[in-house]
Amino acid sequence: MAPTLWQSDLLNSDPSIAIALVLKGIEKENQDYASFMAPVAMSPSLLARALSHARTSWGNESGAVSEEQVRAVRKTWSEVRTPLRRAELEAYLKDPDALLRAVLERQSAAGK
Ligand code: HEM
Repeated sequence: MAPTLWQSDLLNSDPSIAIALVLKGIEKENQDYASFMAPVAMSPSLLARALSHARTSWGNESGAVSEEQVRAVRKTWSEVRTPLRRAELEAYLKDPDALLRAVLERQSAAGK
């Protein structure tokens, strides 16, 4: 199973966090969930609609995501080739730029 998206901070905070998370996936570090979150290759318009739906459904009220926002994150995050870690996402939930820097540092330390 996958986690509930209702009241998910990762989904409902800064839209860049949710967009980056879906584009890059989440690294599987434990057995909390049976499945894993792979990077999802959706067009910017479809991803904007999917995220807008998720952020305004099941009691979520964090608002729509635009295609332009998805395109912007896709571009800024284009160097990232590693899935994100939950600890990173949670540490930088309110600061997407710091999240991006942390992920790029980890990636470069791993020599990738
Ligand atoms: C547009 C499509 C998708 C969106 C918007 C989305 C969104 C999310 C979000 C926001 C989280 C973090 C939730 C939280 O813990 O607060 C998450 C985690 C997860 N998602 Fe997705 N997801 C998508 C597609 C998928 C697909 C296709 C699968 C599986 C086939 C999947 C499986 C999972 C799993 C297993 C996790 C937990 C990962 C872990 O912590 O190890 N997701 N997803």
